[in-house]
Amino acid sequence: MFKKITVIGSGLMGSAIAAHFANAGCHVYLLDVVDKDNLNRSNIPTKAIKNLLKTKPNPLTLNSNIQLIEPGNIDDDLNKINESEWVIEAIIENLEIKKTLYKKIDAIMKKDLIISSNTSTIPINLLTSGLSLNFKKNFMITHFFNPPRYLKLLEVVRSNELNNEIFNKVKSYCDINLGKTVIETKDTAGFIGNRIGIFWIERSANEAINLKLTVEEADFIIKNIFYVPKTGVFGLIDIVGLDLIPLVVSSLLNNIPKNDYYKKVHKIPEIFKYMLENKFIGRKGSGGFYKLHTTNNNLKVKYSLNLETKNYSISSKPSIQNIELIRNNLKDFLLKDNKYSKYAFFVLSEVLYYVLKITEEISYSIIDIDEAMKNGFGWKYGPFEIIDKIGPEFLKEIFIKSKKDIPKLLKNIENKNYYKTESNLIKYFDFKSSNYKILEREDGILLLSDIKKLQKPISQINTASLWDIGNKVTLFELHSKGNTIDMATLKFLNQSIDIVSSSYESMIIYNEGEFFSAGANLGEALFLGNLGLESEVEKNILRKGQEVYTKLKYSNFPVVSAPFNLALGGGCEILLHSNFVQAHVESYIGLTEAALGILPAWGGCKELLSRFKENNNIPNGPMVPIIKSFELIGMAKVSSSAHEAKKLGYLKSGDGITMNRNRLLFDAKNKAIELSKDFTPPNKSTYRLPGKTSILALTLVINNMKLNGQISEYDKYIGEKIAYVLSGGETDIHKELSEENILNLEKNAIYELITKDLTLERLEYVLETGKYLRN
Ligand code: NAI
Repeated sequence: MFKKITVIGSGLMGSAIAAHFANAGCHVYLLDVVDKDNLNRSNIPTKAIKNLLKTKPNPLTLNSNIQLIEPGNIDDDLNKINESEWVIEAIIENLEIKKTLYKKIDAIMKKDLIISSNTSTIPINLLTSGLSLNFKKNFMITHFFNPPRYLKLLEVVRSNELNNEIFNKVKSYCDINLGKTVIETKDTAGFIGNRIGIFWIERSANEAINLKLTVEEADFIIKNIFYVPKTGVFGLIDIVGLDLIPLVVSSLLNNIPKNDYYKKVHKIPEIFKYMLENKFIGRKGSGGFYKLHTTNNNLKVKYSLNLETKNYSISSKPSIQNIELIRNNLKDFLLKDNKYSKYAFFVLSEVLYYVLKITEEISYSIIDIDEAMKNGFGWKYGPFEIIDKIGPEFLKEIFIKSKKDIPKLLKNIENKNYYKTESNLIKYFDFKSSNYKILEREDGILLLSDIKKLQKPISQINTASLWDIGNKVTLFELHSKGNTIDMATLKFLNQSIDIVSSSYESMIIYNEGEFFSAGANLGEALFLGNLGLESEVEKNILRKGQEVYTKLKYSNFPVVSAPFNLALGGGCEILLHSNFVQAHVESYIGLTEAALGILPAWGGCKELLSRFKENNNIPNGPMVPIIKSFELIGMAKVSSSAHEAKKLGYLKSGDGITMNRNRLLFDAKNKAIELSKDFTPPNKSTYRLPGKTSILALTLVINNMKLNGQISEYDKYIGEKIAYVLSGGETDIHKELSEENILNLEKNAIYELITKDLTLERLEYVLETGKYLRN
């Protein structure tokens, strides 16, 4: 679609937006003001491009994408904008400075050049007043959230004059090629995300201070009400940067209606002012509400700011009990007479009240409000979904108790929910007509969450389900904690393969949990190991895993896996045994067993060897597949994107990559249908491996790493076991080995490792802390 674009402003947002277009394969001119103190007049964007390589989290899906970004300056190179198809302005949030730039662009632009602004708060009518009609016809707002690679929300606003074709082209590119959830908002200050998000952050911070909560306590409550992943509200401010908050707040206050509720309750907490003066602005400064300190022996210690004394001390977990109780019985929790319940009550009441008051002013539908908060601020449920969970009637009680009026939008639904399923359709409350409308997804979007609202699974156990998703396609869903795979799940997968084999045409492995799969259920293996039931581990976990994964690969129907986020260990091995992988671009794939003191033994070693043996793009020779596999398995390498997973070899060059998470299942389903038309299972591999000579060569490498202090004594031991398996054990290049031979080597090697105390220590540590122990 777009082959070349220009981004003006190479600051935090401009450079990261440029990077994300490069991730989509688009060439980018990145322009900024002239650096008068430097011989290189384009020094500012040149430096910004280099900095992309140091930025965390990495804005690039592959570091080499940087080559697609070319620096320039607006004095010498502004004409170059006409060599591109679209200009994105991401300069300082100042109306006058933005308009001065627009006037220059207006004077030289080609007729069909698309222009958009990344403004966070300024309405479009202010941005375009006084500019030519042609400029207005081509101008819109495209508001990316920070960091643009990772945050899915993109708010778009159109002027009355905007050409529809442009609007649709931009929307579709950002959705399909950049992976954004594109939401059209009304032309109001702060659009949807910042208007609600800033209110939520400010009210939550103020009340935490009023109630004398610690930052950890406040974040804990927020996480458990809004189901915000990981950060909570103070943690979120640290990521966004405290310095940005006053800028957005003042721009919002200048542009929202006079009688807006936010104006009545707005108050910047004193502590914010103190922190700004002392540059405690968050992760991009020297810490904020939290900061990490690295000790002399390289341990990271987390500190948190005391909101009263303004001193830092070691961060401690809040002593709030019964998380499950809060989650399962939120109503009871909210009505309790303690500071945590009071806090939750206050934040919910304020935020939902404000949302109900302004929804019609800022959005075209309640779905857009929900999606904006989920995709821009990481809420698990949108405000209207939260209201449905606690019940509109109960919310009325909350408003009455907190002496608020009942907003019209709440009265209008007459105690019914905002979403419902009826006649096999999902419907939502449409505030324009005061009626329920059918929720229609765009072409190419298919969600398991929608399917689940309308039907029951073919078969189900606690940890997994098998779904019929139409066109003879089935979907195998993991839904255990961490989507780990235990003995029961393996048995269920085995049964599911039989069901699909007899009655369907293909299987997709996919879920909509936090991640694809963290791998085998280590807790179960550890439990059995500690009870001295190693034979159980051998029979029901190791052998069963190998059997079922092999059966999956050679079944008479195509298996398409659709990973996203983490696919580690046994989760990665599912991908290696699939006939095709359609991966979300944000897939972090790896065989991480070595870090746990074990090695891949559900066919991971075998599959990597086959893959590198069959790859025509790498030089041949018996050692190449072994070394390539050893580099990944021995170093427990995890890809930083699906693009990198292809480069590393976890994905095949022909596997698919989907940029938009909401399109992943649709793309996987299409592939499954296509493959099932003329499907024959793959042939089994055979291996000729060098045995002893290869073991010797790899041992040399391992010894060197030990000598250089790169690995521990136990890492060396594990490395030697991996080297043994990948080299084919006691074999030589003239002997032909079967897949079963390699599987046996895997099984015997892991069995030896799993009985060692140091491995048990590693497993226990990861289960307790979620972190790897390098003992
Ligand atoms: P920034 O201050 O990091 O970068 C602004 C860049 O624009 C600087 O490199 C500056 O030299 C350049 N610049 C200033 N005037 C210029 C001109 N006349 N011509 C060319 N370059 C010029 O700002 P940031 O944070 O990247 O924000 C940029 C825009 O994105 C603003 O409109 C902001 O509201 C919006 N935004 C910011 C977000 C954030 O989290 N920082 C999130 C979403 C939107």
